[in-house]
Amino acid sequence: MLVLAIESSCDETAVALLDSASGQAVRLIDEVISSQTNIHELYGGVVPELAAREHLHNLPLLVDGIMQKTRVSWSDIGLLAVTRGPGLKGCLLIGMDFAKGISVGTGIPLLGVNHIEGHVLAPMLDNPELHFPYLALIVSGGHTEIVAVRDVGSYSIVARTIDDAAGEAFDKSANLLGLAYPGGAKLAALADSATAAIPKEFELPKVMREAEGFSFSGLKTAIALLIKKKGAHIAQDPQAQALLAKSIQSSIVETLIHKLKLAISQTGLRNVALSGGVSANRALRAAAAAIPGVRVYTPSALHCMDNAAMIGYVGLKRFERGERNTLDISALSRWPVETLQLGNP
Ligand code: KG4
Ligand code: ZN
Repeated sequence: MLVLAIESSCDETAVALLDSASGQAVRLIDEVISSQTNIHELYGGVVPELAAREHLHNLPLLVDGIMQKTRVSWSDIGLLAVTRGPGLKGCLLIGMDFAKGISVGTGIPLLGVNHIEGHVLAPMLDNPELHFPYLALIVSGGHTEIVAVRDVGSYSIVARTIDDAAGEAFDKSANLLGLAYPGGAKLAALADSATAAIPKEFELPKVMREAEGFSFSGLKTAIALLIKKKGAHIAQDPQAQALLAKSIQSSIVETLIHKLKLAISQTGLRNVALSGGVSANRALRAAAAAIPGVRVYTPSALHCMDNAAMIGYVGLKRFERGERNTLDISALSRWPVETLQLGNP
């Protein structure tokens, strides 16, 4: 059975076609992701109205494009999977109304998918050898959560951010260093270019080590103060900039790894899946892989970021288990992943 998947919850418009033959691994036929970074970069963050307008423009082009390229016709498709939430309401509505329109016109059944469930299960799409149960560390621009994943639709939160998300911590720090939005990957590249050890003067305090959730706001303040103090010196010294980036990156990574270790000992789960934009971070991957006795799974580079393949994967898994939606489902800007169940949308 083929599934056409649509993702439009934030600033990426994405469509994907997947195939699932019974008893076999899900196969990704093709996918396309149109990023709007160049539009939002001007404003230092995502502008919801602009993002929604871009989705409206992009979606028909991307869907037509993938159907023509793969020579798939509507009669070949058995399911439409679309991101229902969480995300920016206007952006979700564009994707959902577009999918509903196709469903009305073609009679193909529709399933609204939770975006975070997409990130939670994305590592399974690229690692067929990963099985339940496992721990998922979801680290993106909007979310930082450690989820105990026991089955499709069976998730419990082990820890989650109480303020900024890990991606936000990267992006806001990058902004303080003068790097364009979203600066996470740029800060990481700068940090990885530093070969020397972090000097004492650039060390950042260990924040919120013992609290239940993640917190990055204290770190952000410490970084802002440090940059203010060292600003003039750093601005003229690329090596000092790289070392400061290295210090920031290792602080964020250390916070994540500290909580991940606690979650591992708390749950006894030793298979760990990283997902979300920040899971592309090399220092984070290396630090997770260095935890003794733990096996780490990561999605492909494309599936770390927002994508439609993960939405199609969740759609297929739920459809296989008998789940269906009617056309009156609404977009949900808030939709905690731990409230999900199977067969009870
Ligand atoms: O999952 P994602 O594509 O979108 C959201 O759902 O938010 O994550 C985007 C976030 C941004 O904050 C971006 O700066 C961050 O992931 N990011 C990185 C790296 N690549 C992307 N952060 C640190 N290191 C990276 N290599
Ligand atoms: Zn995401």
